[in-house]
Amino acid sequence: MTELKEVLLEATKEAGRIILQYFDGVFKIDHKEGINNLVTEVDKLAETRIIEVIRAAYPRHSIISEEIGELMKPSDYKWIIDPIDGTVNFAHGVPICCVSIGLMHEGNLILGAVYNPMMNELFFAEKGKGATLNGNPIKVSSNNNFKTAFMVTGFPYNWSEYTEHPIKVFERIVLEGLPVRRLGSAAIDLCWVACGRFDGFWEFNLKPWDCAAGYLIVEEAGGRVTTFSGKEYDVFDKETLATNGLIHEDMIKVINRR
Ligand code: IPD
Ligand code: CA
Ligand code: CA
Repeated sequence: MTELKEVLLEATKEAGRIILQYFDGVFKIDHKEGINNLVTEVDKLAETRIIEVIRAAYPRHSIISEEIGELMKPSDYKWIIDPIDGTVNFAHGVPICCVSIGLMHEGNLILGAVYNPMMNELFFAEKGKGATLNGNPIKVSSNNNFKTAFMVTGFPYNWSEYTEHPIKVFERIVLEGLPVRRLGSAAIDLCWVACGRFDGFWEFNLKPWDCAAGYLIVEEAGGRVTTFSGKEYDVFDKETLATNGLIHEDMIKVINRR
């Protein structure tokens, strides 16, 4: 595991270096499917470097990465990469964005790293060994009073695909009187639940690269991650609910209230 961890951290820091180098500078911006779904040349530069680092050490491992897609090999190991999570923030010079890399072995997440180079915050978790922020152990919050919970969420780019509009769920939470933030990076949202800044996070339609690392980091920090109905979470699920565990059932009730 030590070598896998070293490669993960090297790839994460290399991408962080590239992100920081271009942050608030000049770079090309393209649009993906939707007009507000952006990709910059920095996403691609960071992704290329991450894959180079992984491939140099593990040429036979599978990789899924947001911009390049799937590079599948007959391997038990799968790297799940978001070269920049929070690209819209990045494109506007908002320092809430990060690189996020998770590693699966035989379908289970075993390592995860999320690094925001602008804040110099590196979140890391290894299955069964806890979660850290810049090397110091982190834990989810201890707030068990749902009425005072501090929440964070995000909205999908593809609103129209939903029969139950995410805004309805947003409304239910806001009408509970809870303070809710929208940062623009799901990986950071998850990590900020893991280190206790927020008590909970929910979002529809996240992709595996948004959540893989952050999911493990929340769980290893003592939190709970499920779908909106409370089913055990899988990074391919379309609903993500992550909390400190103590307010989880209350969140499920409110999200599903009709
Ligand atoms: C996005 C961010 C955002 C979330 C979107 C994601 P990207 O990822 O995580 O917070 O609301 O659903 O797609 O496009 O910046 O990598
Ligand atoms: Ca993302
Ligand atoms: Ca991205």
